Amino acid sequence: MFREKHGFWATFLRPSARYSLLTLLVVGFLAGVAFIGGTHYAFEVTSSPQFCADACHEMATVSAEYKQSVHYSNRSGVRAECADCHIPQPLGPKLEKKIVSAKELWGKITGSISTPEKFAAKRLELAQHEWARMKATDSRECRSCHQVDGMSADKQTPRAGAMHSMIGQDGRTCIDCHKGIAHQLPENMPEGE
Ligand code: HEC
Ligand code: HEC
Ligand code: HEC
Repeated sequence: MFREKHGFWATFLRPSARYSLLTLLVVGFLAGVAFIGGTHYAFEVTSSPQFCADACHEMATVSAEYKQSVHYSNRSGVRAECADCHIPQPLGPKLEKKIVSAKELWGKITGSISTPEKFAAKRLELAQHEWARMKATDSRECRSCHQVDGMSADKQTPRAGAMHSMIGQDGRTCIDCHKGIAHQLPENMPEGE
């Protein structure tokens, strides 16, 4: 197919006379490692609570509310961080979430949530995105800490025990019943949501 000796593709396909195959493989390998390492590092940094909450004042409200919640401080000292609830572990969904978050960052730069008033106006929509995402994954992030088969019904309140026996029925999942467990609910919640 690529018989011709000149032209665009030929430049790429011509064997290297200058570098040994080993050199090329080693360089390629190192470049690959650097790329994956760099991506991993960027993900670590942008997933930290400092980045999520403090680096950007738009998050001050949600962050302050979270710090009042049982997920920040409780008698056992087990803490759920922003990323535990908001960033999926599996790589595919994680990449997807990073792209969506980048859009939110774009929103910040272009000012669509830059003031408390604008944030309040947009809050319901942002919350609805998170609910839909959690609903679609059967509350996967919640379940990475809360195991249903680890809940001893006799240690829960009777109401909680009764409700939890319904998990899975008609597709009922944690987020259907437990909205607002880390932040206050949006003020303009529609009835029955
Ligand atoms: C990183 C682990 C972690 C994640 C992720 C997590 N939780 Fe929790 N959750 C906890 C801990 C720890 C407590 C406090 C346990 C205690 O000491 O009572 C808690 C408490 C709760 C409570 C009891 C609230 C109260 O007032 O006592 C509910 C309800 C709850 N979580 C629901 C959820 C839901 C829904 C999600 C997903 C959106 C979620 N959790 C994600 C660790 C987690
Ligand atoms: C059908 C509704 C419903 C579903 C689905 C549901 N819960 Fe609950 N849950 C409740 C109710 C109601 C309570 C009791 C709240 C109260 O007493 O204030 C409760 C209480 C809890 C508590 C506190 C237990 C205690 O005794 O203090 C935790 C933790 C909890 N739920 C986690 C979860 C997780 C994780 C899921 C998903 C795997 C889930 N729940 C699914 C309704 C539900
Ligand atoms: C225990 C799980 C949990 C933790 C930890 C958590 N969130 Fe959330 N977050 C939620 C849920 C659930 C929603 C959807 C709205 C609701 O139910 O409150 C949400 C909604 C949001 C929203 C949309 C606006 C809104 O209020 O609905 C933002 C922004 C947000 N979270 C940022 C953060 C940041 C930043 C942190 C850390 C400082 C954090 N969250 C920690 C569960 C969590």
